[in-house]
Amino acid sequence: MNLGIKIQYQGQVQSKGMKGYFFFKESIKNMKTSATVTRSSKHVCKKIIQYVDFENADVIVELGAGDGVITEHLLASMGPNTKLISFEILDQFCDKLRAIDDDRLIVVNDSAEHLNKYLKENGFDKAYDVVSAIPFVALPKELSKKILKEVKRNIRKGGNFSQLHYSTLVKGIYEDIFGEVKTEFVPLNIPPAFLHFCKG
Ligand SMILES: C[S@@+](CC[C@H](N)C(=O)[O-])C[C@H]1O[C@@H](n2cnc3c(N)ncnc32)[C@H](O)[C@@H]1O
Repeated sequence: MNLGIKIQYQGQVQSKGMKGYFFFKESIKNMKTSATVTRSSKHVCKKIIQYVDFENADVIVELGAGDGVITEHLLASMGPNTKLISFEILDQFCDKLRAIDDDRLIVVNDSAEHLNKYLKENGFDKAYDVVSAIPFVALPKELSKKILKEVKRNIRKGGNFSQLHYSTLVKGIYEDIFGEVKTEFVPLNIPPAFLHFCKG
């Protein structure tokens, strides 16, 4: 089916339909770590980055980048001197992220709990803001806590941490680690999404 909408990167053209199918195919093979078969809608992408301080950020960190749908929205809003470090554990998704071929983007094919190592390697002390789509509901509780404590340790004081979910089931884990959590519901997504916003 030709959905008629084309995206172009470095001469590589892919329709949104093809991107959606690729995401579906790879996610279904890795349901334990992806927890969904659809990439985020443009409504989620716009909302989840709403508190990122694009004016002042030197480095923005993205966790669970998938095939880059939120990554592209972040890059489109970033200035020329801001870096984006995007973590993704699936090799196939990392290939898609590298194809974006933007020298502000640093693709890390490793788990988010190693955040500190990659910040330091790239010359940064703290992440300015962090945007995450890691499905903490699906991950072992200890690993989720480890990653979130690592985020708390490595985000600047007052930095914005924005998290995508499909329920409010584990909201408590963010309250335990970050304190106050503001939640927004985004119905225009499959499945409908909840966005949690916290401060570092
Ligand atoms: C729900 S998908 C979101 C993909 C994309 N950001 C989007 O919004 O459509 C979650 C992604 O997190 C990745 N992921 C899961 N555990 C991770 C971890 N420990 N570190 C980095 N990425 C992880 C999965 O491979 C998957 O691509």
